[in-house]
Amino acid sequence: MILIQVFVLFLTSFSPAEAKDTLSQGSSLSVEKPTTDTLVSANGDFSAGFFQVGDNAFCFSVMFTRSQPPTPVWMANRDQPVNGKASTLSLLKSGNLILIDAGRTTFWSTTTFSSSKVHLKLNNNGNLLLQTSQGSILWQSFDSPTDTLLPGQKLTDQAFLLSSRSKTNYSSGFYKLFFDTDNVLKLLYKGPNISSVYWPTPYNTPSTNGRSTFNISRIAILDSYGSFLSSDGFQFSSTDYLAKLHRRLVMDPDGNTRLYSFNEKSNIWEVTWLAIAASCSVHGLCGANSLCAYHPVNGRTCYCMQGFKVKDPNDWTQGCVPEFDEEELTCSNRKKNVSVDYLTLPTTEFYGYESRVYNVASLIECQNICTQLCEDCKGYQLSFNTIRTYNCYPKTVLLNGRDSGPVNGDTYLKLPKETLLSSEKPLKHSPMKCDSNFAQPLNRFYQKPRRNSTLYFLLWFATAVGVLEFTIILVVWFFLFRTNKELPDHEDQRLLLSATGFQRFSYAELKRATKGFSKSQEIGRGSGGVVYKGKLDDDRVAAIKCLSSDANQGEAEFLAELSTIGMLNHMNLIDMWGYCVEGKHKILVYEFMEHGSLADYVSSNTLDWKKRFDVAVGTAKGLAYLHEECLEWVLHCDVKPQNILLDSNFKPKVADFGLSKLLNRDERGSSSGFSRIRGTRGYMAPEWVYNLPITSKVDVYSYGIVVLEMVSGKSAMETHSLDLSSRGIEQRRLVTWVRDVVEGAPNRESWVEAVVDTKLEGEYEISQVEALVKVALQCVHDDMNQRPSMSQVAEMLQPHGKTIPLSFLN
Ligand SMILES: *[C@@H]1O[C@H](CO)[C@@H](O)[C@H](O)[C@H]1NC(C)=O
Ligand SMILES: *[C@@H]1O[C@H](CO)[C@@H](O)[C@H](O)[C@H]1NC(C)=O
Ligand SMILES: *[C@@H]1O[C@H](CO)[C@@H](O)[C@H](O)[C@H]1NC(C)=O
Ligand SMILES: *[C@@H]1O[C@H](CO)[C@@H](O)[C@H](O)[C@H]1NC(C)=O
Repeated sequence: MILIQVFVLFLTSFSPAEAKDTLSQGSSLSVEKPTTDTLVSANGDFSAGFFQVGDNAFCFSVMFTRSQPPTPVWMANRDQPVNGKASTLSLLKSGNLILIDAGRTTFWSTTTFSSSKVHLKLNNNGNLLLQTSQGSILWQSFDSPTDTLLPGQKLTDQAFLLSSRSKTNYSSGFYKLFFDTDNVLKLLYKGPNISSVYWPTPYNTPSTNGRSTFNISRIAILDSYGSFLSSDGFQFSSTDYLAKLHRRLVMDPDGNTRLYSFNEKSNIWEVTWLAIAASCSVHGLCGANSLCAYHPVNGRTCYCMQGFKVKDPNDWTQGCVPEFDEEELTCSNRKKNVSVDYLTLPTTEFYGYESRVYNVASLIECQNICTQLCEDCKGYQLSFNTIRTYNCYPKTVLLNGRDSGPVNGDTYLKLPKETLLSSEKPLKHSPMKCDSNFAQPLNRFYQKPRRNSTLYFLLWFATAVGVLEFTIILVVWFFLFRTNKELPDHEDQRLLLSATGFQRFSYAELKRATKGFSKSQEIGRGSGGVVYKGKLDDDRVAAIKCLSSDANQGEAEFLAELSTIGMLNHMNLIDMWGYCVEGKHKILVYEFMEHGSLADYVSSNTLDWKKRFDVAVGTAKGLAYLHEECLEWVLHCDVKPQNILLDSNFKPKVADFGLSKLLNRDERGSSSGFSRIRGTRGYMAPEWVYNLPITSKVDVYSYGIVVLEMVSGKSAMETHSLDLSSRGIEQRRLVTWVRDVVEGAPNRESWVEAVVDTKLEGEYEISQVEALVKVALQCVHDDMNQRPSMSQVAEMLQPHGKTIPLSFLN
């Protein structure tokens, strides 16, 4: 008899357990029987049971089990794992659901009570419910999310997402997606000592960010088709919108919120949307006194500023500490003759922590404010504002620093004079990463073989390793506030546009806008297609570029490339508002530039010296951003005055970047390799001709030519006479001509006078002409390795930047 009982027991515990989705009153799930003591949803997508989070440490979790390994989507006790022995989840007769550790203490409970019968059920959508037999819900896991939002689950006032500590440590981390008291959905960094909101753009008003503060319902919801809608007006659609897939929106430990969809074929969660493209905009990553930088290969990195050293190399959130005695920055000490000086950190920003914002007319004024604040000012940030003065931000603490992504202005770091002179420049891209191993497969539509040059190897390597941050988002962020009646000023408008992003236009609207693509609206015509001026339905004036149709390129590939370009956002790059793909029509919609292109001005006297210099600096910044801080090292390949547009203040914006890819002319094409040559005669680097690898240095070369044209007022295409008294008159091309003039002149003043455009009538700043010509001559060096990078150029042209080496001519 006993034997039979044992046998039956044996059978029941080893026969394949009937998967159940319900736990009845009075029963338990044990941590020791992971295979049998698990609830499985009727469709088999989800299971609820004990999930191992560490050595002998378990959390009761809901997991998505179609993926291998299972993906936890909810946890009951993320901050207090239970023992791997004797722990149980029990549904008591009273109606309370409790999680008990081996030591018989309750680690978690739903604190529910019911007089009628209750059961625990795992639904097909991943929701774990405690229900009465009548069907009323006592408790559900969807009401208390951890870091994941599933389709159909509501993000609310109480239900926010909180990141894990890391990819392997599931306990509560530092980043939170939540509804703030102003009804706006935000991302918050909540560190041990400080906290700050970093999304949407914190220094904008909600309406500038495209958010409404009026709807108090505070609800956001994701559907299985990839559309997310929030009551503050924020919404997005995933790149694979309309496909019904398993999806999850996750507050990731690196401070970004990403939408993933599950690819059943490859068993991979693919990123189909992310909140923040410029990963260094996330707060709290690098700690105090350090800077976040983006490197195409190493991914996001942190590094200490000059004069500082890292506190804990294994934990960058602790930042860097000064190598000098901080006492030296106090004013009492300064009297003892320790003086301070400032180090320029070009296009660098430290978000927050200014005592107040001053409106100043010059750099010196801001510097004096900082100096007088003694130890309460660690440095200051200076940026242009809309009324053409500067905003001066003296910083009490240097936190949330970054030197990549869209940054308006420069930071000036206060250091003791001797530290400034003696300490070494920091190594910017050390292989140390801010967060360990955040590599994810990319959701790319295209994976065609490319040129196998080093650059492309690097590029794909980068793509595979860490470029996740810049994953494609071709999200149609609809303009919710298109009907907004208040008229934002120019700056606000720019921010609004960049915040709301990209729009898909209908062919009909663009046809209306351009009066049927009529000749009278045509403003340009190039190899890429025809450009029209047009007025959109919302009254914005746009430049509308119809690309010459390319039958070989699929829509998905086109959109993927386009989304890359659409994400680029810099004040010196033309803003792309949207696109249209319908049938054979491929159209791009850009902001319209009142003053046309630099080509119209190179040889006119509208551009005084200051404007010319600013155009040179701005163009360098725009190209530097394209080359080093974005997704794929976008090479422009056709830098010329026609592609440098001027806004109403004659600020330059580089246009037509990335077009070579959009037009699908990037491929090697036929074996003859003839399709290789691109660009425009006169501006093309020698590499094109000599079949050398094409790198970002081709743009540097073209830039150098453009600068020489701007300074001299002479065209690169013509030849120029050179009057070197001993040798008589010779005809030379622009570069040789300038080089010969510079080398042949007895002193700086005389070559500057000889080179500079006579139309300026002597109205120029000699040191700036000198700087520009020197830089330009470096840029047009025949050996690409001798040319500076675009960011070095931008740095050299900074008002208080590095001095230009004199060895440039060799
Ligand atoms: C996870 O991180 C927390 C907080 O730093 C720490 O207390 C805990 O021990 C970590 N857990 C594991 C499994 O490493
Ligand atoms: C937080 O502040 C405390 C006290 O000021 C300090 O000891 C600690 O190092 C700070 N923690 C971090 C991560 O900065
Ligand atoms: C507030 O948002 C909710 C959810 O998006 C929506 O259903 C509701 O209509 C909105 N209310 C108002 C007054 O706009
Ligand atoms: C302080 O330095 C200045 C210039 O460096 C010098 O002229 C002055 O004599 C110094 N004063 C003292 C007290 O050392």
